[in-house]
Amino acid sequence: MNLIAPSILSADFAKLGEEVRSVIAAGADWIHFDVMDNHYVPNLTIGPLVCEAIRPHTEAPIDVHLMVKPVDRIIPDFAKAGANIITFHPEASEHVDRSLGLIHDCGCQAGLVFNPATPLHYMDYVMDKLDVVLIMSVNPGFGGQKFIPGTLNKLREARAKIDAYTARTGRQIRLEIDGGVKVDNIAEVARAGADTFVAGSAVYGAGKDSDPHRYDSVIAALRSELAKA
Ligand code: DX5
Ligand code: ZN
Repeated sequence: MNLIAPSILSADFAKLGEEVRSVIAAGADWIHFDVMDNHYVPNLTIGPLVCEAIRPHTEAPIDVHLMVKPVDRIIPDFAKAGANIITFHPEASEHVDRSLGLIHDCGCQAGLVFNPATPLHYMDYVMDKLDVVLIMSVNPGFGGQKFIPGTLNKLREARAKIDAYTARTGRQIRLEIDGGVKVDNIAEVARAGADTFVAGSAVYGAGKDSDPHRYDSVIAALRSELAKA
């Protein structure tokens, strides 16, 4: 099943609870939560306090994407704040296997995130600990960037690794894509193997502020493109 995960990075931070409720009411599946530290990436965003603040506004899974270095210290804080899924970049942890284990010990699903130039082999020895593989189709740090086309081949490679693993073990791993996903390219991205789609500016940039149903049509358009793929 395909999942749509709007990134609240592009939401109106002055009314975040409402922005979260609106996209879920419009048919989105996960809330994608971008954490940036002005150290691992050149931008600064939101932390566990904001995760805790939006938690009562939805029962949808909160998908925390850590763009921070180091990662271990902050993982339990996000678990306590109500995160369901926590992903991090392998370059940002000295001990990737330990960080994945820590996320599970805290009761969350765990995933690795691959920058455009990060090789996929980091997956190979930790497949049993992965619930999600997140492929970046932009360099992390900002919303509203352009999709890097070479990512499609990387998605196909990741899909093949996951399918071989699932055939061997019966265990599923989600393949998530993040960056520059829009109505006009989501079908192609799905055909390359993704099953979970982050969309920030495409979703939160849509519609007029005065319209209470402003996200309905963009989520419907993303879904109808997915149905074609
Ligand atoms: C970028 C973030 C993305 C971002 C996506 O570092 O990880 O989740 O919000 O935004 P769009 O969909 O606008 O590229
Ligand atoms: Zn993200």
